[in-house]
Amino acid sequence: MPAGNDRSQTRSADASHDSKTILVFGATGQQGGAVAEALRAAGWNVTALVRAPTSAKAQALADIGVALHQGDLSNGASIRAALAGVYGVFSVQPSSGQGAAYGVSDAQEIGYGKTVADLAVEAGVRHLVYTSVNAAGEEKTGMGHFDSKAEIEAHIRGLAVASTIIRPAGFMELLMLPGMGLDQGRFNFFLRPDQVGQTIAVRDIGRIVAAIFADPDTYVGRTFEIAGDRLTGKDLEKSLSRAAGRPIQYARFPDAVLESNPFLGHLAALFDDGRLAGNADIEGLQREFGPLLSFDAWLDGPGKPLLQRALEAGDADLALR
Ligand SMILES: NC(=O)c1ccc[n+]([C@@H]2O[C@H](COP(=O)([O-])OP(=O)(O)OC[C@H]3O[C@@H](n4cnc5c(N)ncnc54)[C@H](OP(=O)(O)O)[C@@H]3O)[C@@H](O)[C@H]2O)c1
Repeated sequence: MPAGNDRSQTRSADASHDSKTILVFGATGQQGGAVAEALRAAGWNVTALVRAPTSAKAQALADIGVALHQGDLSNGASIRAALAGVYGVFSVQPSSGQGAAYGVSDAQEIGYGKTVADLAVEAGVRHLVYTSVNAAGEEKTGMGHFDSKAEIEAHIRGLAVASTIIRPAGFMELLMLPGMGLDQGRFNFFLRPDQVGQTIAVRDIGRIVAAIFADPDTYVGRTFEIAGDRLTGKDLEKSLSRAAGRPIQYARFPDAVLESNPFLGHLAALFDDGRLAGNADIEGLQREFGPLLSFDAWLDGPGKPLLQRALEAGDADLALR
């Protein structure tokens, strides 16, 4: 058993987390934000390493009781300082798949992910939760921002730290990015009309991670895919039309687009071979973690303002994460 799977390094589940602190990376972003919120709701002390503590997103974290620690993933000393005395770490990094948003290279993502894990070991962290991607695995995908995560996962498993690795499906939030055609009464994505793909609401990633930190005896040493719903292209058409209150016609991205854009073409191929479509045991996850948001429930709940914005927005270049 690799050192990272040693359950003796964990404490038992503890309903009151009063004296324990979790350091959350990426807390001003989607996954880290959901994790910080869910951990606070569960009673943990939460510290966030943020680049800009005075930003609106950082201040919203402060408003729910998150302690802000100014730092940067490229600055090891700032990470080391934020890690002092923490019980657990939630680790997420930006990726090259996010395009110009962060301008991060695959090598940088790998470096950040390994550094966070190495410094967590150095600091004596008791539980590290790393969020990867469903397509990551032993076999390379040929896409830098997925294979980067497989490399970080392998590094973590080889370290003397109790760890859990989750591999989320594509986020429901991703489906609302500009460039999919919603503002023009259509929706284009990678799935063929009858092809099934899995997806998850970011909010559920937060809930699942909070449950993982609460029960290390169950989750240390595990790597597993997470998803909350499975949908075909036709299902997307039905759900989006209902929620938009007008017809939204679904079609897979045209072949010409997939052929002329190697990045999108490669993603489509990974959906076709099943790796990006996802293989999470959704029913098993619901038994473990309670109800997870279906796409319909998400569209009526946390996704509602995102859908409204996507229906109104002008078309723009795709930025897939
Ligand atoms: N979208 C999907 O469907 C999907 C599915 C599976 C996996 N993923 C993976 O999820 C990851 C992104 O997660 P996300 O969507 O939660 O992120 P996100 O919303 O884009 O937020 C990124 C977070 O990282 C922070 N950050 C960026 N550069 C930093 C730096 N140098 N130092 C410290 N913090 C930094 C940002 O802080 P600032 O506020 O300062 O910018 C922000 O809090 C990517 O690796 C992606 O491949 C995405």
